[in-house]
Amino acid sequence: MSRHRQGYRYMAIGCLAASVLASLGTFSIKVQAQSLVPGGMVIADGTTVPDIGPLPTAVPIPPTNLNYAAKIALGKQLYFDGRLSKNNAVSCAFCHNPGTGFADPRQTSIGVGGGVGGRQAPTVYNTGFLPLQFWDGRAGSLEEQAIGPIVNPVEMAETHENVVKKLGKIKGYRQQFHAVFGTDVNLQGIAEAIAAYERTVVSTNSAFDKYMLGDADAMDGAAIRGMALFKGKARCVLCHNGPNFTDNRFHNLGVPQTGPMKEDLGRYYVTRQDRDKGAFKTPTLRSIAETAPYMHDGVFKTLEEVVDFLDKGGAVNPNLSPLIKPLGLTQREKADLVGFLNALAGEPVKFEMPKLPK
Ligand code: HEC
Ligand code: HEC
Repeated sequence: MSRHRQGYRYMAIGCLAASVLASLGTFSIKVQAQSLVPGGMVIADGTTVPDIGPLPTAVPIPPTNLNYAAKIALGKQLYFDGRLSKNNAVSCAFCHNPGTGFADPRQTSIGVGGGVGGRQAPTVYNTGFLPLQFWDGRAGSLEEQAIGPIVNPVEMAETHENVVKKLGKIKGYRQQFHAVFGTDVNLQGIAEAIAAYERTVVSTNSAFDKYMLGDADAMDGAAIRGMALFKGKARCVLCHNGPNFTDNRFHNLGVPQTGPMKEDLGRYYVTRQDRDKGAFKTPTLRSIAETAPYMHDGVFKTLEEVVDFLDKGGAVNPNLSPLIKPLGLTQREKADLVGFLNALAGEPVKFEMPKLPK
């Protein structure tokens, strides 16, 4: 429970309800389930999980990195600035492109000098809601995450020292760092400003949110039927739950490994626990139609392929999650499920490229 509570700080009430339920033990399962479940929770296949629902209006902001306009503006420039990389050409946006859902349409990312990475770049949308970053959860905060790609040899391939030196020579950055942090350009400030900007990149106000907030016409029939399947027969909600459609946990779906990595043990690299071999973080499904291809290695090109794969119960794998089972969906049910996933497209974000300082 405690891990859960951390992940869903903004859902404290729902989680409290869950712990009350848990303390009732087996009793809660035998009694008419639905009527016992307080708001915000749903039962799928006998398991109580946080229900899907509209996204909270506020992204959680850490008290150590408050968000304000000047810092966000600085972070946005840094996010789009290739000078953070060794060849001055690979910005964060190169792989997390606003035109493709803040993700990368390539199967796996290409960095400085054409180096090919082993994993698909996830979306930056709603990462402000995630307690753990990366497919294996190895970074705990956006601040910690942001400085990783700069030194990653197949991403930006730069050193932290060089990047600080390079940006420190740019007058516009020097001025902004003094205004925002009261310091010269430094790594901590780079990380904090980028993270502050990322917390403004939110996918919300989808047809699904509008429907949940009372606009019965916001979703069509297929999406409404798809939502029922998502929480029922298709059991997606077991992992894609809560307002951001993720339990922030790690599961092995038996996704076939393709691309430059022969084997990717995922979460195992962080925990060294056998049960985490091949387990990856449940990704958000918000704006999912925009962020193809799918899975940690980008193996599936369409949502239809993903649904077909899950319908078969994933693939044979010694560590397959016990939550993954063949679903027996009809063609129409599969189409409805995809219809629902399409209804998670966020309201288009008003976007303007920032002017980069000289
Ligand atoms: C060369 C491509 C590339 C560049 C450049 C790049 N990223 Fe990424 N990003 C990736 C890949 C690939 C992953 C997944 C890696 C993994 O899970 O091990 C990732 C993961 C992330 C995540 C985690 C998202 C999640 O859901 O866990 C965030 C946030 C992120 N990047 C932000 C940034 C920022 C900020 C920058 C610039 C400082 C940046 N990225 C530069 C490819 C890139
Ligand atoms: C056991 C937990 C679990 C269940 C149940 C589950 N998922 Fe997932 N889902 C995950 C994980 C973990 C991944 C990433 C796996 C990987 O990359 O190896 C994922 C990936 C996805 C992706 C690709 C997302 C991306 O950004 O690449 C989609 C789409 C998806 N799931 C939809 C669904 C649908 C629809 C259902 C129900 C039919 C479902 N999932 C059931 C855990 C689950």
